[in-house]
Amino acid sequence: MDKILVEGGHTLKGQVTISGSKNAALPILFSALLTDGRCTFTNVPGLMDVQSTCMLLQHLGAGVETEGDVVRVSAGSLNNFEAPYDLVRKMRASVLVLGPLVARLRKARVSLPGGCAIGARPINLHLKGLEQMGASIKLEHGYVEVETRQLRGADIYFEIPTVTGTENLMMAAALAEGRTILRNAAREPEIVALADTLKQMGADIEGAGTSVITINGRPMLDPTDVAIIPDRIETGTFMIAAAVAGEEVVLNNCQPDHLRASIDTLRLAGVNLKTGEGRIVVNGGHPVAGVDVTTQPYPGFPTDMQAQFMVLMSVAAGQSVISETIFENRFIHVSELRRLGADIKVVGKTAVVSGVPHLSGAPVMATDLRASASLIIAGLVARDTTEVNRVYHLDRGYQAIEKKFAAIGAAIRRVRA
Ligand code: EPU
Repeated sequence: MDKILVEGGHTLKGQVTISGSKNAALPILFSALLTDGRCTFTNVPGLMDVQSTCMLLQHLGAGVETEGDVVRVSAGSLNNFEAPYDLVRKMRASVLVLGPLVARLRKARVSLPGGCAIGARPINLHLKGLEQMGASIKLEHGYVEVETRQLRGADIYFEIPTVTGTENLMMAAALAEGRTILRNAAREPEIVALADTLKQMGADIEGAGTSVITINGRPMLDPTDVAIIPDRIETGTFMIAAAVAGEEVVLNNCQPDHLRASIDTLRLAGVNLKTGEGRIVVNGGHPVAGVDVTTQPYPGFPTDMQAQFMVLMSVAAGQSVISETIFENRFIHVSELRRLGADIKVVGKTAVVSGVPHLSGAPVMATDLRASASLIIAGLVARDTTEVNRVYHLDRGYQAIEKKFAAIGAAIRRVRA
């Protein structure tokens, strides 16, 4: 298995081009199933999760062509309605195929995604919404089987705002008969990006980005061309890396508006950040102070930035209280950060981080995508060498992360197994 070696203490300086957003690209690629022509998507990040999505689309009978950051999907004729265990096991977000498949073929058989390292991650709210829209749901042999004669619009309330749940039901509702209202919907920029794509395809959707989304269904959508929005979590990850280990680092092709809570929190900690049209300039290397943070659904501080922020707080002056409210087990990076010398105590959903003067390199194990990114950042500031194992998590969600870091001065390399 590949590993990444990071030698700490090298100053980051230069320009980074942010890639397209993983969590926007995945639902948008699946939305091609709602059309019967060829959709062209640009600025698609080169990630394992994108490859898994393309494999699943092909498995269903869609044509997929990839050329650099361009992916073309032709879903004119589909010959399969099943997302098998082997594909879903590789990527939980495969569950995003459920809404479009039921809408298009009126049936779907999708392997039930299990929990993952960060939590149980049920999909009950996706299923409850589909049921309200007139689908029957069975769980057999580890598969969710959904069938309907015709999806009908419904008034659906999410007990918890769920990102992929909102996306799944928005896609299902786009081809349902009548009006669907999604209440307490997730408001993430990726939801808006998907709604914009569906609207370009001819869907009638209002309110994406607020907690009430109204969709008037259509019989079929038209193919379209769409550029994927920049990845806000990749942007935030580089912001924090620059804050702990940088001089001037310029992040290009990003969308600062999507990172307001993270930018405000970093500024509060004393990080020098300037934002402009499509760019963020971080002047790192200054002392930072501990600040408290609680993860929240968008527009709050993202759970996907919590592990990276914890590294910043590990080398800040003073104490920081970090509360995780989205996932029940998203502190798995704590024990790895402790191996590097961080002083972190966890009580339930809260971590108390007391800043230490320095971290020191050690072998560590990546446990999930964002935790892996946090270990790389820790390696950049730790003395001597940090060896990050199980980096396949990183390849799922960060395009060429070690190359991007090396280009701005990090001493980082991948050792192929
Ligand atoms: N939840 C339920 N029932 C459901 C759905 C969700 O109880 O039917 C709960 C979850 O267990 C969790 C909360 O609701 O406690 C929110 O989960 P959500 O459904 O919003 O998460 P998700 O859609 O599975 C997406 C991102 C995650 C990101 C979360 C939260 C994608 C493909 N994934 O997951 O991204 O952490 O929203 O913002 O968009 C990552 O990129 O590393 C990642 C994990």
